[in-house]
Amino acid sequence: MNIRNKNVLVTGASRGLGRALAEHLAAAGARVVGVARGEVELVAAMSAIRAAGGEAHAVVADVAAKDAVARIAGQAAALVGPIDILIHNASTLGPTPLRLLLDTECEDLGAVLETNLVGPFRLTKLIAGPMALRGDGVIVFISSDAATSAYPRWGAYGAAKAAQDHLARILAAELEGTGVRVFAVDPGEMDTAMHAAAIPDADRAALARPADTARAIAAMIGDPARAGSGARLEAATWGPAVTS
Ligand SMILES: NC(=O)c1ccc[n+]([C@@H]2O[C@H](COP(=O)([O-])OP(=O)(O)OC[C@H]3O[C@@H](n4cnc5c(N)ncnc54)[C@H](OP(=O)(O)O)[C@@H]3O)[C@@H](O)[C@H]2O)c1
Repeated sequence: MNIRNKNVLVTGASRGLGRALAEHLAAAGARVVGVARGEVELVAAMSAIRAAGGEAHAVVADVAAKDAVARIAGQAAALVGPIDILIHNASTLGPTPLRLLLDTECEDLGAVLETNLVGPFRLTKLIAGPMALRGDGVIVFISSDAATSAYPRWGAYGAAKAAQDHLARILAAELEGTGVRVFAVDPGEMDTAMHAAAIPDADRAALARPADTARAIAAMIGDPARAGSGARLEAATWGPAVTS
């Protein structure tokens, strides 16, 4: 898939990986709609993309809010047209410092699931159908190694990411033959606000830069042969295609 002139919706686009994805895809010629709750940070991020010559629009909304999801899809379509590429990147850890599961309130687990699983599901329901009718589209779920490794204190987040991975796999199976490709990506450890909140004493020099991770994910979007529907990929091991 050529990213130029594609309409892209990125959740969590005001900072970290989402902002880097918005910047990279807009620089590649996509029309980007970015979503986040914090208006000031989101508008600044989208304005910076426009100042650099790209097209980017801000939709201030909470992906976990049931009533906001139809507005996100509607505003995005009104701003750029039908969405070709949907990237579920917005995510929450739940309360930090991270807690053992038995110390986690049920309400906190529920809130993490609303942001990391149910909200993306609601948005997918609105956007994947039109993609299937057009016979073209890509849906990317940003995952985590916490989806596959049982890290103590990462229970709510890890369970939500594991469920999101499986949701992506089942969507991919159900959408087979429609032209809609669905895959999940573990971005690896990146130097972002979320990482700092989870592991404040991490060696930041050892963490990936979101811009490098965004470049790898954009390459996956453009490469259906290597990033097929139903795949779960790792940005850290995604290298250039090997040609013989
Ligand atoms: N950083 C890492 O090392 C790492 C490792 C593995 C996986 N990941 C995954 O990579 C993705 C990006 O993480 P990151 O580190 O870049 O996070 P980040 O720096 O904390 O940025 C999160 C973004 O999501 C937005 N957001 C959060 N909750 C939202 C909600 N309910 N509705 C709308 N927007 C929301 C935030 O803006 P507002 O707060 O203003 O809404 C912000 O734009 C996430 O899916 C994360 O789970 C990260």
